[in-house]
Amino acid sequence: MGDRAPNKLYRNERVPGADQFYPANDPAIGAAFPATTHPRNARLPTLFQPLTVRTTTFKNRIWVSPMCQYSSDGGHATDWHLVHIGGFATRGAGAILLEATAVSPEGRISPEDAGLWTDTQIAPLKRIVDFCHAQGCVVGVQLAHAGRKASTAAPWVRARRARDAGEGVPVSQVAQREEGGWPDEVVGPSDIPFSDMFPKPTPLTLDGIQRVVDAFAEATERCKRVGFDFIEIHGAHGYLLSSFLSPLSNHRTDAYGGPLSNRLRLPLEVAKRVREVWGAEKPLFFRLSATDWAAGPEQDPQSGAWRSWGIEQSTVLSRALAEAGIDLVDVSAGGNWAAQQIPLGPGYQVPFAAAIKHAVPGLLVGAVGLITDPQQAEDVLKDGKADVVFLARELLRHVDWPLHAARALGVAVHPAVQYERAWGGDAGLSGALDCPTTATEEELPAGRDWPITPSAA
Ligand SMILES: Cc1cc2nc3c(=O)[nH]c(=O)nc-3n(C[C@H](O)[C@H](O)[C@H](O)COP(=O)(O)O)c2cc1C
Repeated sequence: MGDRAPNKLYRNERVPGADQFYPANDPAIGAAFPATTHPRNARLPTLFQPLTVRTTTFKNRIWVSPMCQYSSDGGHATDWHLVHIGGFATRGAGAILLEATAVSPEGRISPEDAGLWTDTQIAPLKRIVDFCHAQGCVVGVQLAHAGRKASTAAPWVRARRARDAGEGVPVSQVAQREEGGWPDEVVGPSDIPFSDMFPKPTPLTLDGIQRVVDAFAEATERCKRVGFDFIEIHGAHGYLLSSFLSPLSNHRTDAYGGPLSNRLRLPLEVAKRVREVWGAEKPLFFRLSATDWAAGPEQDPQSGAWRSWGIEQSTVLSRALAEAGIDLVDVSAGGNWAAQQIPLGPGYQVPFAAAIKHAVPGLLVGAVGLITDPQQAEDVLKDGKADVVFLARELLRHVDWPLHAARALGVAVHPAVQYERAWGGDAGLSGALDCPTTATEEELPAGRDWPITPSAA
């Protein structure tokens, strides 16, 4: 029996409380091993330092940015979502933010968007959330209303339309009624469409605005029943709340349009109401577009009038959001102005995150946009430009990016026990849960997180 301790039982331990058998992972997948067993982790890069927001602890700062999948069935998540989201949960992301999830049917971007406007949408989401929790991953949802960009077709459907129309021919983005859309029920702050290729919105009445706020509140109630750990309010990319913020899309003359304080009103009402329903314990985030990327300065230098949306107003908004109970702003950009000119490049939106972080010190800030390299991500955090990074496309290409990032930055993190052999671990050793790693630090070859052992057949 070798070194087996007398009377000690060795089992493939299960995750306590989970509704199915899953092997336990300790520490959680993607979390750094303690420095006591892995001295190299004594000085952790910021990317792998845990972050506690209210009562929730995030095991690292690599968070999955929300990504629409255009794969829901009447707003209900499917097994596609379970596999898609489950992939991130099993590969070490610090948090997963589920895609834009509509608070009302007319608030979907496409007919196949996710929703939380009715109780039957709770169960399939709960299955996904329970799975993530069993893998030690924190998971949230982005609550959204698409506003004047609603009732549009999924990207690959639009691409097919464009192909059939021929090169250079302007192509409608609209999902017509026969295609599952609702182009006559699209709403916005004013009757200005995003472009000629989008539905013409009906301006929301004051009652309609109230219904939107109520819909966010009701969806928040459902989030509690799903068991989400955090919520992000989608206030970016030209969708409803974002379109109320910008003077380019909001031409209202009532209390919800005109001066900046009026244009902030609806997003702030939503933020306050969601916080009220969500309670004080759990984190609440807000995604904003820091600029419309419109030509010229956001404020007229002569008259002082705001001409488009930009970082100055985003900073005022961020301060007000912090007062309304928002813990973190997720700083994106664009999507509200069809003629936007985006200076694309690595980390192209990071300067906006940094500006808000500098101006509103008490507020946590997330950076997003072409963050693809571990050292680049670490530098954003180390230099104090943001507190967390959100990754989207890079994680679609490399779902195990958090594990690669750990290796690149010299951090010893835990892969899923089921996948250890792919990462050089030895499943035979790590199965004993009182043995937190596959080898002691001293046994590891230099520069590797785990010894590379030949895979048994
Ligand atoms: C397939 C796909 C779907 C997306 N859906 C959403 C969404 O639901 N909500 C949102 O705020 N942003 C959405 N985005 C934007 C991403 O969250 C992210 O902000 C953007 O892709 C830039 O980050 P990246 O360079 O890491 O991809 C989506 C992006 C992609 C690629």
